[in-house]
Amino acid sequence: MNSDTIVGIIGSGAMGAGIAQVAAVAGHKVVVYDANAAALDKAKAGLGATLAKLREKGKLANAEEVMQRFTFAESVSAFAACGLIIEAIVERLEIKKSVFAEVEKIVGEECVLASNTSSLSITSIAAACNSASRVMGLHFFNPAPLMALVEIIPAVQTDEALIPATKALMESWGKVPVIAKDTPGFIVNRVARPFYSEAIRIYEEGIADMATIDWAMTELGGFRMGPFTLMDYIGHDVNYVVTETVFQSFFYDPRYKPSFSQKRLLEAGWLGRKSGRGFYNYSEGAAQPGPTKDEKPGHEIKERILAMLINEAAEALHLNVASARDLDLAMTKGVNYPKGLLQWCDEWGADKCLAKLDALYNDYHEDRYRASIWLRRKASK
Ligand code: NAI
Repeated sequence: MNSDTIVGIIGSGAMGAGIAQVAAVAGHKVVVYDANAAALDKAKAGLGATLAKLREKGKLANAEEVMQRFTFAESVSAFAACGLIIEAIVERLEIKKSVFAEVEKIVGEECVLASNTSSLSITSIAAACNSASRVMGLHFFNPAPLMALVEIIPAVQTDEALIPATKALMESWGKVPVIAKDTPGFIVNRVARPFYSEAIRIYEEGIADMATIDWAMTELGGFRMGPFTLMDYIGHDVNYVVTETVFQSFFYDPRYKPSFSQKRLLEAGWLGRKSGRGFYNYSEGAAQPGPTKDEKPGHEIKERILAMLINEAAEALHLNVASARDLDLAMTKGVNYPKGLLQWCDEWGADKCLAKLDALYNDYHEDRYRASIWLRRKASK
């Protein structure tokens, strides 16, 4: 793969269109295909408008040239000359498998096939192909043109030689690639779970209200958005479903247990900002609850959530999901954490983090609060 590689994008929704933009701006010819003609038209118009806006702002002088690099295709046969295909269609395993099998028949032997799936097993997608060794995960973050992180996920079957080549290609696109094992949630969607779930737990127990928890995590923790504001922003149709999928995929490990508070919001159709109501009410004139800015309990909330996050990163490191460097890069570049969690562990002190978790474990007697052996060993050093 190099700058002459023609890139094919399957699915021209939010992610497909964003990834197509990144590849075209990086100099590639890009073939965009969608099964839905209206979605394809929308992507074409959207990309044209975005590129024009970038030119107006002086950020993309050759916007017209970039637009010429796109082909919008209504049939997969247009992928014949592609050297890399990135799939970003609906998150359903059986559909992805059949699309991969279909596309494999059209492209050449050297063509790399990648999925942007957030939660499905890359290995099971690869198994749908005759040449499974060319299949991998290439997980971008939303919005793809703005978020630097890309998780590269080799399947069990993936040819290892493809990994450095893909890494180099992503760097040439201006991205920050990290390598993650094919395990549920890869890095970000796994390690970030406690940011949401522990915040909800604190709220459900009545320890603090949502506004206070959000305040503690932003003002005292340095996060850009508090957990409730962020969940409302992501949408509960996405955030809750990721939590539930990760929980099921980890064979119901209680560490990832979803919450009823969030499930009920989804059932009510209170999806967050986009539907006008989620944890908070966004309708015009609705009163916004204010936080109780009491620093001592605020720090306790922050430390409880942080300890759970660090524990998750520690366990991922312990199980070789990714390197320490990649784990920290993923959280800072994929979800804008103020610091990598392993770096945070060093600065805070593994012993303090462990003491926090052990205190929770002793209080609750729940497996959810078990500390990673990695953290325990580090604390004892
Ligand atoms: P979307 O719903 O915006 O777009 C999906 C597009 O795929 C639609 O235009 C649809 O017409 C098309 N499509 C569906 N089935 C198809 C098929 N069989 N053949 C061709 N086109 C088909 O979805 P979005 O949000 O762009 O997500 C796409 C993928 O990216 C999913 O796997 C999702 O898990 C993943 N992802 C999503 C992120 C997000 O924040 N939205 C972040 C990272 C990954």
